[in-house]
Amino acid sequence: MTYESKIHEAVKYIQTHVEAQPQFGIILGTGLGALVKDINISHELSYQDIPHFPVSTVESHSGKLVFGELSGQPVVAMQGRFHYYEGYNMKEVTFPVRVMKLLGIQKLFISNAAGGVNLNYQVADLMIIDDHIDLLKENPLTGANLDEFGPRFPDMSEPYDQKMIAQAMEIAAKNDIKCHKGVYAAVSGPNLETRAEYRYIARIGADAVGMSTVPEAIVAKHMSLPVFAISAITDLCDPENLEPVEISKILAAAAKAEKGMTRIIKALVAGQ
Ligand code: HPA
Repeated sequence: MTYESKIHEAVKYIQTHVEAQPQFGIILGTGLGALVKDINISHELSYQDIPHFPVSTVESHSGKLVFGELSGQPVVAMQGRFHYYEGYNMKEVTFPVRVMKLLGIQKLFISNAAGGVNLNYQVADLMIIDDHIDLLKENPLTGANLDEFGPRFPDMSEPYDQKMIAQAMEIAAKNDIKCHKGVYAAVSGPNLETRAEYRYIARIGADAVGMSTVPEAIVAKHMSLPVFAISAITDLCDPENLEPVEISKILAAAAKAEKGMTRIIKALVAGQ
């Protein structure tokens, strides 16, 4: 069975079980799932029940597709996402993005936890992703092009929607939420970076580094689907003063940043 047929089968299954027509898709990052509480939920589907859907393995992720209204808008949210470091290939990591697009979403919202490489950042700050650097070893678009979804050589001059970025910066300012705009570098993980790697990542122009988002953003761009992405800065990557990272501290920082992030995404969705 081809990859496209698998996507279509998953979409068909979802459409026979869910009547809702989502306008917006949301992917929630590690420790950033609380936004789901603000969704007026109409349907939930476990990943394991959807044909060909990958199943989430990370402990802090619960693995379901949530349909409902957020800020009065019909949305579909992924509770739990797929990371390359879990062992999925990039076609699996980005499968749900293709599915959500065929379900009718017009825009994609992504959140993640990231390390702050820009030393002006502080733990629990937010960073709206303005651009990215892909340091991953596999690209989700390699192999035969999926012509029904997009072109062989997608443009990347504006990977993140500038209009939504401007709106989000305004929302942050109005609500006194500390929010930067910067460049996200994607690495495969699962190990954190060495001091030399953090030095390198800062020098090539990144402000934050993390293990997600870029594959999904590339696939969305392939389908001309506008993307808004935002990082919670969970630790500081200062090569000269590097402290060992603990996952519990990362999750605590994500929880601290979550309120502002949720507020920005909700206001942004409301205004679309
Ligand atoms: N590096 C990579 N991914 C991360 C980091 C980091 O320092 N912090 C949170 N996610």
